Amino acid sequence: MQLNKVDVLLGLQWGDEGKGKIVDVLTPRYDVIARFQGGPNAGHTLEFEGIKHVLHTIPSGIFRKEAINVVGNGVVIDPIIFKKEIDALESRGVDATDRLKVSKKAHLILPTHRLLDAASEKSKGKEKIGSTLKGIGPTYMDKTGRNGLRVGDILSDRFREKYEFLKHKHELLLAQQGEPGVDPEMEQQWIDSLGTLRRFELIDSEHYLNEKLREGKRILAEGAQGSLLDIDFGSYPFVTSSSTICAGACTGLGIAPNRIGRVIGIFKAYCTRVGSGPFPTELDDEVGEALCRIGNEFGSTTGRRRRTGWLDLPALNYAIMINGVTELNMMKADVMDDFDTIRICTHYLVNGKLTDRMPYEITEKVDPVYVDMKGWKCNLREALRSGDLPKELLDYIAFIEKQTGTPISLVSAGPDRSETLFRDVKEATTA
Ligand code: GDP
Ligand code: IMO
Ligand code: MG
Repeated sequence: MQLNKVDVLLGLQWGDEGKGKIVDVLTPRYDVIARFQGGPNAGHTLEFEGIKHVLHTIPSGIFRKEAINVVGNGVVIDPIIFKKEIDALESRGVDATDRLKVSKKAHLILPTHRLLDAASEKSKGKEKIGSTLKGIGPTYMDKTGRNGLRVGDILSDRFREKYEFLKHKHELLLAQQGEPGVDPEMEQQWIDSLGTLRRFELIDSEHYLNEKLREGKRILAEGAQGSLLDIDFGSYPFVTSSSTICAGACTGLGIAPNRIGRVIGIFKAYCTRVGSGPFPTELDDEVGEALCRIGNEFGSTTGRRRRTGWLDLPALNYAIMINGVTELNMMKADVMDDFDTIRICTHYLVNGKLTDRMPYEITEKVDPVYVDMKGWKCNLREALRSGDLPKELLDYIAFIEKQTGTPISLVSAGPDRSETLFRDVKEATTA
């Protein structure tokens, strides 16, 4: 029997590309939406019917009644944040009980993981990662160090004992750094929040998802963060602690590599980055300011200002390569509606040598080389509605398709579900 494949949607830049919006837009085409890595460091925004909603742990298919949403084994969950998300959904009349399932193998973020995250950042001083301080790094460290607590453990009689053991270990580490242990009130809130997690079906998600494939159901894997924040291929050490790339969907869900279907890579028509780390095309001028202001580039999770810059093709091509991207989705082109000129970085000058490859280390010696393109100078939201895209935007799209050898199958020009244009990829230019 021919098995279905799992499509993957993931970010190709430094996160916040608009994954939440597009997963929500695509959900009617799928039966199951499954998050495969990351945790509440993610903030995925959806907008429809005048309502804006930000999800952190829960997959972005949750607003569509027909879809089942799965939090996969590769995800790390903070029960307090999970409860807040569920409460927020319920306050909007969304009952997720029957449409959200959680892997028993997903790891738990303890209150002490968050304290360790903060202590680690403090000790790094100016070299800090700029973490979201959600305890992501320490939780994945305990996972790979084989010390972690998993969601399935909350069903065990020995859960409290296991929790106390790990907490004690963390408090010794904190004491070594002169940091206090966990606040009892916070700890109680965490323990109480486990009740919300218990209300959901806790599953062997690898079996569940493979069964769904055998039944001919369609699955979309939802990535968090972006490829340039990947633990192996991102701008290390200024990265997150999980595999944000396509391979992460295999390990984070228990899906074999030969079961991966389309790989949808999502990118902004420019670049942003929140937190520390190299950013070759960063703009510290009024253009960067305009991208931030018009694009409302403030973190969905932390509210921090996102750094902004021009589109970076060497970085985009690198992400396309390591993910096996089959199609691109371009977001937020509308932010540049008023720009006379739009620049695209095609190469870097590294120590005076021209290259189109991401160097091992991106330092200040990496100078971006740009091609200038004419801006479209019109309201793209309106153009999208009429389906009549301006020539300059079509030129911009064609240039990116040619430089990446990958078709752009979707263009987004606004945060709302409706502000989305699907393109026939067969018609799209490829190199
Ligand atoms: P995610 O983490 O990849 O899901 O992205 P975020 O939700 O963190 O950030 C994307 C932001 O851009 C959100 O505020 C979205 O509502 C908004 N957004 C998404 N697509 C578009 C678009 O095409 N145009 C504009 N102007 N905003 C968009
Ligand atoms: P979504 O899914 C943008 C960044 C942080 C920091 C680095 C490490 O919304 O795209 P961590 O908390 O993981 O230890 O932080 O990664 N970061 C993100 N940036 N979008 C995200 O998620 C991010 N998740 C983490 O700012 O630089
Ligand atoms: Mg985000």
